[in-house]
Amino acid sequence: MARLNRREFVLTGTAAGLAAAAPTTVFGQAPAVTTRSSTKPVVVSSANGHQYKNGGPVTAVEKAFSTMVRGGDVLDALIAGVNIVELDPEDTSVGYGGLPNADGVVQLDASCMHGPRKRAGAVAALEGVRTPSLVAQKVMDYTDHHLIVGADAQRFARNMGFTIESDLNTERSRKAWLEWKRRTDSLHYLDPDKREAAMRQVDREMMAEGYIDPNHYYGTINCNGVNAKGEICGVTTTSGLAWKIPGRVGDSPILGAGLYVDGAVGAAGSTGRGEANLYGLCSFLIVEGMRRGLHPKDAGLEALKRIQANTTEKRLLTPKGTPNFNVNFYILNAKGDYAGVAIYSADRKQQFAVCDEKGPRLELSEPLLEGSTD
Ligand code: GLY
Repeated sequence: MARLNRREFVLTGTAAGLAAAAPTTVFGQAPAVTTRSSTKPVVVSSANGHQYKNGGPVTAVEKAFSTMVRGGDVLDALIAGVNIVELDPEDTSVGYGGLPNADGVVQLDASCMHGPRKRAGAVAALEGVRTPSLVAQKVMDYTDHHLIVGADAQRFARNMGFTIESDLNTERSRKAWLEWKRRTDSLHYLDPDKREAAMRQVDREMMAEGYIDPNHYYGTINCNGVNAKGEICGVTTTSGLAWKIPGRVGDSPILGAGLYVDGAVGAAGSTGRGEANLYGLCSFLIVEGMRRGLHPKDAGLEALKRIQANTTEKRLLTPKGTPNFNVNFYILNAKGDYAGVAIYSADRKQQFAVCDEKGPRLELSEPLLEGSTD
């Protein structure tokens, strides 16, 4: 049973309008009452949800959890959390300062899903808006559609009052792109097999030399939460694959792939190689696994096995015959049980972020396979 102090309990179960009177901390206080439901409020996200603060006092999972338990709408709370990462120039995988596409343009994808309302919204290949998650939420709230893309997504954002910027690169992302361009341009449209190997070699060298963070190559933040009333929501936002062909859209804005929420069952979302996830619509697969009664960890591992089974092309395999890329899922169910899973855990060090009544922290993801992407 989740335990909150009396004031938090009142705030958790009442209208958001009371939030202004909320206590200043929500962690480590003596519990006075227990909630009536059996749901343990919890927020889970990719590790960057507890690594970046954009110069402020809290990380994404802390912001999302504290907003949620003070009575805020769960999706509003999660989006307020991921906004911190979208706006932080130090995370080069999401929002402002995300690694750009092959033409040097930052193109962003995002989706959000509201369990209780059974609504979702998304944008893809959006340029010029630092917080695509908020634009996805506007698609959900103000249209009859789920996904708006490209120049029209930007027009939609402008009409919704977002500031449109001509360039979302930072000095760091622009320099990394220039270096990639210098090393690869003549190789870009070679025979696919040779191109794959050549690109892989360049990316490895740039990671080893510190131009790009290996975790930011596919990047992304996914963040899911459930409150004490059992209300579940999720959001995923990304700059996508570094140096992608312009217009490439990954798994993040596609319902069932980069994100899926069923308000009665649970939520799942991903980071990592979107193309691999799209073949199996694995977030949907995971939620369906939980519907059959699987624990979040087992549902996640089942989906990773599907990805492994679907990965048969030689260019995508290590010499041992296993996938030469990683995919991660962040999962919770309607009781507040949660898990992070990954194809590989790099010596069992792959982490995900959690925040619950015990406070924010990083935990280890459960790997499907030993070894690494090499
Ligand atoms: N998972 C992020 C992407 O492939 O774009």
